[in-house]
Amino acid sequence: MIPVIRPLLGAEEAAAAAEAIMSGWVAQGPRVAEFEAAFAEATGSGHAVAVSSCTAGLHLAMIAAGVRPGDEVVVPSLSFIATANAARYVGAEAVFADVDPATLNLTPATVEPLLTERTRAVILVDQAGVPADLDAMRALCDPRGITVVEDAACAAGATYHGRPAGARASLAAFSFHPRKLLTTGEGGMIITPDPDLAARLRRLREHGMDVSAAARHAAHQPVIERYLEVGYNYRMTDVQAAIGLVQLRRLGDIVTRRRQLARRYQQLLGQIPGLKMIADPAYGTTNFQSFWVALPDDFAVTRNELLQRLADAGVSARRGIMAAHLEPAYADRGHREHLPMTERLSSSSVILPLFHQLTSDEQDQVIRVVFDAADLPFSPGRQPVTAAVV
Ligand SMILES: Cc1ncc(COP(=O)(O)O)c(C=O)c1O
Repeated sequence: MIPVIRPLLGAEEAAAAAEAIMSGWVAQGPRVAEFEAAFAEATGSGHAVAVSSCTAGLHLAMIAAGVRPGDEVVVPSLSFIATANAARYVGAEAVFADVDPATLNLTPATVEPLLTERTRAVILVDQAGVPADLDAMRALCDPRGITVVEDAACAAGATYHGRPAGARASLAAFSFHPRKLLTTGEGGMIITPDPDLAARLRRLREHGMDVSAAARHAAHQPVIERYLEVGYNYRMTDVQAAIGLVQLRRLGDIVTRRRQLARRYQQLLGQIPGLKMIADPAYGTTNFQSFWVALPDDFAVTRNELLQRLADAGVSARRGIMAAHLEPAYADRGHREHLPMTERLSSSSVILPLFHQLTSDEQDQVIRVVFDAADLPFSPGRQPVTAAVV
């Protein structure tokens, strides 16, 4: 079976994890601090705060943005449900906005009609690793005192106006789940240019403590810690951070390889009339975290039939991005929005396998199923991708 994704983990990650274990320090400690410094450097943002997941990071970002019960947070419905849940965790209402069909992201045009006196934040998702237009959203929100939090879960290695995605946000949260390019098993990172926000995020991820366990351990005098506010245990472990440090060094190669494979998908699948695919926006580059294709209305088979055919041919694909507003978890609100683009994209798209080790032959196997479903002949031609560097 060709998986939809396979993380790129090898001997170097295993050795780094083993070294962390043998050091005797396995909880949040020096490797987490090193990973944070390396991530801040790689993204060019002032501060990076490691957390146990992007979901935890979004929760803390909501608190840091001052979102409170009764506030509204505008989010895309076309996202993993964690985006909307972050608003709910702090007692706010998730207000679902529609997305632009080219990028799958929120735009000022989809968000502006939903802004009210109660809107405290917008969570702008870089869906599937396509950077959203942050500057345009901030131009709408900053004058109104609304914080734009970037959900960069999928976006490590993507760029926006020539800089790493997330670098221009006041708060951006990344995911290191194995479906992402850079993985630590589970894990996440929040970046911010604001040292005060970073200090608060560090405190919130560690029970509201005014001094970290690592700092207490390193101190030569007794340290009596204080708990300044109600916090959480959202810490990353040093074993995860050790893996993350290796992965971060490989990120550039991983992005290059994915972009080669994605280009090949675009060239070959682009021959199918009406098929829409993930692509770079005008102002940045995607890391192709998920290679989505949206089927035209007159496609020869239904979306689910295509998924079945892929499965029958030994290809593990996925339905397109979910629509959170249609899920039972959000059915208690007494209303259901009509989000035409979201509903259409969610029901008509699929995510095809894309990962570093995917070979041209495997990719042809995937493409052939889509061509067969479209009732079109497929000839791979001469477009092999250079051999995978694993
Ligand atoms: C857009 C988006 N936000 C948040 C998350 C949650 O990330 P994590 O699994 O690290 O909590 C995901 C995970 O898939 C995601 O795609």
